[in-house]
Formats: sequence, C-alpha cells, structure tokens
Amino acid sequence: MPRVLFTDQDYPDLALEQEVFDAAGIELSVKECRSEDALIAAAADVDALLIQYAPVTERVIAALPRLGIISRIGAGFDTVDTEACARHGVWLANSPDYGVGEVATHALALCLALVRNVVAYDRDIRNGKWHYLSSGKLKRASEMTLGIVGLGRIGKRMAHVSRNVFRRVMAFDPYLIDGDFPAFVERSGLEALFEQSDVVSLHTPLNAETRGMVGRSLLGRMRTGSFLVNTSRGAVIEVDDLLHALDSGILAGAALDVLPVEPVPADSRLLQQPQLILTPHAAFFSVQAEIELRRKAAQNIVSWVKRSATRPGYGKSCAAQL
Ligand code: NAI
Repeated sequence: MPRVLFTDQDYPDLALEQEVFDAAGIELSVKECRSEDALIAAAADVDALLIQYAPVTERVIAALPRLGIISRIGAGFDTVDTEACARHGVWLANSPDYGVGEVATHALALCLALVRNVVAYDRDIRNGKWHYLSSGKLKRASEMTLGIVGLGRIGKRMAHVSRNVFRRVMAFDPYLIDGDFPAFVERSGLEALFEQSDVVSLHTPLNAETRGMVGRSLLGRMRTGSFLVNTSRGAVIEVDDLLHALDSGILAGAALDVLPVEPVPADSRLLQQPQLILTPHAAFFSVQAEIELRRKAAQNIVSWVKRSATRPGYGKSCAAQL
C-alpha cells in the first residue's frame, strides 16, 4: 500500500485527508517535522509527502530515495528545492488556485484599512478619542493610484476588485505579454510604479529575483505619505528598510500578512510601529478556501499514485508496488 506522510499542520483534525486517502487505498501517517533531520527520520519509508512549511531541501530529497511526490498545501512552494526535485525525479505539486479571491480581497481590505485609517481610529476610540481628525488627514481614494507588483492569478484579481476604488491601476510584471494586462491596467516599470503609486500591493512569488526586492532603493522612490501592502511572501521586503521608511514618514502606513519569520518574534520592532497593520498569514483563509486547499493537496497525491499504477516509470516506488 502506498504511504503518505503529513509532515506539519495545525488543523483541528485530519478527517478530510483521511477520507481522501482511505478511498484511494493510501496509508496516511502524521508526524511533526519542521526540520530537515526530523523529515529525514520520519519519511524513510514513504512514497509521498504532504507538507505545509516543512523545509524540503536537496539533503532531504537525497536522503529519501523512495520518495516520489511532494504535495504542498498552499500556492507557493518556496520551502521546496524545486531543482533538487527535478534532479532526483521527484514530482512536486501545489494548489495554486484555491484562495485567489480570498487573498485579493484581503489585500484590498488592507489597502482600505490603511487609506481610511480604520485600525488607528479603532485604537483611538478605545483610548478615549472620538473624533474624525484623531488619526490625521485622509486623502480621497478615488484620486489615488494603485500599483500592483506581480500580475498573476492574485495580482489580476486584485486589479479587478480594486478598479472601482482607485483612479488608476498600474502594474509591473516582466514575464507577461501586453495582452495579459487587462485593458484598464497600465503597464509600468518597477521604479516608475513605486514613484507614481499612492498604494503599492505586492503579489510576486518568492524566488532569487524577488527576495529582498523591496528595500531602501525602491522605498526611497515612493511619494511621501504613501502606503505598502504585502500578502505575497515576507522575504520580498527588507524589514529594516520598511521600518526606516515608516519611521521617516516616506510611508504613512504599511500592512503585512506575511513576514520573513512567522510567527512574528515577541521582541520584533514590527510590533512597536504604530503605522503598521499585521495579519497572521491569513489572507488565504475562508472556511471554503481551506476545504478546497486541503482536498486539492491530498488529491494531487491520489492522482499521482493512480497514474503511477497505470504508467510504469511515471512515479517511482509506487509504480512498482501497485
Ligand atoms: P502567480 O504565479 O499566479 O503570479 C505571480 C506573478 O508574479 C506572475 O505573473 C509572474 O510573472 C510575476 N513575477 C514573477 N517574478 C516577478 C518579478 N520579479 N517582478 C514582478 N512580477 C514577477 O502567483 P499567485 O498565485 O498570484 O501568488 C502570488 C503570491 O501570493 C505568491 O507569493 C504566493 O506565495 C502568495 N500567496 C499568499 C497567500 C497568503 O495567504 N498570504 C496565499 C496564496 C498565495
């Protein structure tokens, strides 16, 4: 019987995964593996890994010759060494489309919370201040420019849900042809986008090119009093440079759903910065999106096992067993 190891998760129960794997005749085991060594020790005899944030490095993949597929519960796969997977013939699956609407609406919610000072107003009221000027002056959103970095699935949806809020929507994405830009989205260079936007929203993957991309140089180009939102991956932003931009007033506010280190350390300076809104990597979440995500991630493994059974050489050890 093919075996799958669920390496790390924080769900109240795993009935959904158990049902999917039982129906397909796949044995599910569950262990908490948040390090390379823990993974190697726990996964020696499995055909498949179902992972959330477990670090699947070349060392892990090389140590698990039986492994045939890794299915990530989530859209990104920056915790997996994709080139090592290719070198060792290991399949990699993700679930890219389960929460596109959730992340886009969360990003828009963060933009609006910043532009309309929602969090600061709430804080002021609880501190005894009830006045529309308690948090300073607000500007009209319908005269603002939104800049989207990364116009993929989520970036495009963000453009759609935001188009009636902002006057102008511009986007930077070097990998799309012009025809992939909706007619109402203005194509821009990266630096021009940071110079001309009142609100910048980040929607790129995390990779060698985007790691640390938003640092002092780009932030220094932003208009005084502008806003930055990140629902992509925390390490796309240099946190110290962001804090400097907030402290110096270049940014009037920022909102982060994702951080380079999650959860945020208790002594992080991010927690002291009053102009910063934080959410706990929750942009993907709705009850419906989570069910879809978990079902698709488990189903990816089922599809691979079934395919391996009918096409010798498609998978690795499973194909030989079935
Ligand atoms: P996608 O792959 O559909 O789109 C990414 C876009 O970024 C592509 O169009 C690509 O051409 C573009 N891109 C790549 N390198 C770029 C660069 N250097 N500069 C500008 N654009 C670049 O990805 P999707 O599904 O839209 O996801 C976007 C981000 O959202 C990812 O980082 C993903 O991990 C993150 N995400 C966050 C969630 C959350 O809960 N906060 C949930 C789901 C996804």
